Amino acid sequence: MNSLWMDTSLPVEAVVHRFEPGARFDVIVVGAGLTGLASAQMLSDAGMSVAVVEARTPGAVTTGHSTAKLSLLHSGAIADIRTHTSQDVLRAYMDGNRQGQAWLLEYLQGAGVPVQRRDAFSYVTHTDARAEAEAEKAAAREAGLDVDDVDDLGLPFPTYSALRLKDQAQFDPLHVVRALVSGVRRAGGVVIERVRVTDIDVGEPCTVRTTAGDMLANHVILATGVPFLDRGLYFAKVTAHRSYALAFRMPEDALPAGMYLSLDSPTRSLRTAPVQGEERLIVGGNGHLVGEGQPTRRNVEELEAWTASHFPGAIRTHAWSAQDYQSANRIPFVGWMPRTGGKVSLATGFNKWGMTNAVAAALSLSADRLGVPLPWAEKLHHRVTRPASLGSGVAANARVAGLLATGWVDAELSPLPDADPPEGAGVVGNERGAPVAVSTVEGVVCRLSAVCTHLGGIVTWNDAERSWDCPLHGSRFDAQGRLLEGPATQDLRRMPG
Ligand SMILES: Cc1cc2nc3c(=O)[nH]c(=O)nc-3n(C[C@H](O)[C@H](O)[C@H](O)COP(=O)(O)OP(=O)(O)OC[C@H]3O[C@@H](n4cnc5c(N)ncnc54)[C@H](O)[C@@H]3O)c2cc1C
Ligand code: FES
Repeated sequence: MNSLWMDTSLPVEAVVHRFEPGARFDVIVVGAGLTGLASAQMLSDAGMSVAVVEARTPGAVTTGHSTAKLSLLHSGAIADIRTHTSQDVLRAYMDGNRQGQAWLLEYLQGAGVPVQRRDAFSYVTHTDARAEAEAEKAAAREAGLDVDDVDDLGLPFPTYSALRLKDQAQFDPLHVVRALVSGVRRAGGVVIERVRVTDIDVGEPCTVRTTAGDMLANHVILATGVPFLDRGLYFAKVTAHRSYALAFRMPEDALPAGMYLSLDSPTRSLRTAPVQGEERLIVGGNGHLVGEGQPTRRNVEELEAWTASHFPGAIRTHAWSAQDYQSANRIPFVGWMPRTGGKVSLATGFNKWGMTNAVAAALSLSADRLGVPLPWAEKLHHRVTRPASLGSGVAANARVAGLLATGWVDAELSPLPDADPPEGAGVVGNERGAPVAVSTVEGVVCRLSAVCTHLGGIVTWNDAERSWDCPLHGSRFDAQGRLLEGPATQDLRRMPG
């Protein structure tokens, strides 16, 4: 499912530099989402030779499917961070995001990218969730945000305990990607698409192994959503969460004026977007862990039904979904990767607030490279983890171990049906002792190994995206088994049939 942006934005300038085997750079950035491109821009502006290597196309994964609110009102995250960390860490988190937001706003102004300034709001929809909103309000104030109470949001459904942060921003994330790709190139950087990095040999220099050959770099930044290298086990320290967004054409006088997010369930995100001369409504929500939430099509149907009941006359033009990664204490992991001698760094765990967090990560990673002190970043990198976060980390790993076992047992106990699945469906079953995944998409029946190439999880069918998704750490593959995203580096194996 393509996002509104992927469908209506001009393609990112058919970049791209030719791959030159053996080429050497100061820094190779892996991944051309917002994190990678902002890092590449900052480092090439500072005079370093930089190459960005992207497995798909710039912005094609989470950044190009974001709802792209550039807001510091990280609704749902602020009180959570305060529960898991100290006030100092919360403040450092917000300082970084404030600086990230300011950097991006200034950059976009310089690049002439359209940005709409909007107030951001959070609220609850049930009176018994007021305490949640009050906790968010208190944490937002502790974080130094100048939030105020609002009685009436003017939304077409009841809301309680609403909170406003004035003068935030929103944009089309692909406009941002396009500007950064051009900016990196202008600053002398190289952007290479459709080349996947498969491994890194750490050394002097590092050898970056890719599907097109080897490259060399003094330093490597993994800006890949979640790192694909096992060192530090970051794929096991974050959980992968997928959620949905729908765009609607509707009468302009009924459009909401700001950017909104509910704090209680079911989560609903609202914003508008100027697209081809008209204003569209974007409605988001129905998040779940990757590999769960089946049948996933139901999430799209529920959001559409909810919109129809509150915004009569809305006509759906787009539906899409995307995933982001969450750490146990909601603070991103940004910095050196262990056991790489400081030569590889990473950024992950933006918890669906990556428009500011990704730029904060880029600021932090470039400061590390350039030897510039950044007090908030040092505080975040050297934070103490509280018992509450350790507990949720352990629970997440117990969940993964359980899923690994039940996936294999279920696959073993269910023989593959004789008949092929109907159009748009996929099924996993046992065939001669091996877990096999069979799907039918556009009339083509495809038979694959159901064993995820990352660490052996059993994939599940995502009927909204028509993909095979791994519930263990969030790797996803298309119906033909080609890797889409996540920590895996190989496609699913084709089975004879
Ligand atoms: C539904 C949804 C809505 C959101 N809405 C908001 C919002 O309103 N506001 C907000 O602040 N945040 C939002 N977010 C979060 C935000 O969009 C993300 O945190 C951010 O886009 C992440 O950017 P990134 O560059 O880290 O990752 P990505 O954009 O995923 O980029 C990573 C890139 O790395 C590439 N890659 C991966 N592995 C390799 C490899 N081995 N070799 C080469 N390339 C590789 C991928 O192809 C990809 O292009 C939302 C997230 C979701 C899921
Ligand atoms: S993503 Fe780790 S096993 Fe599938």
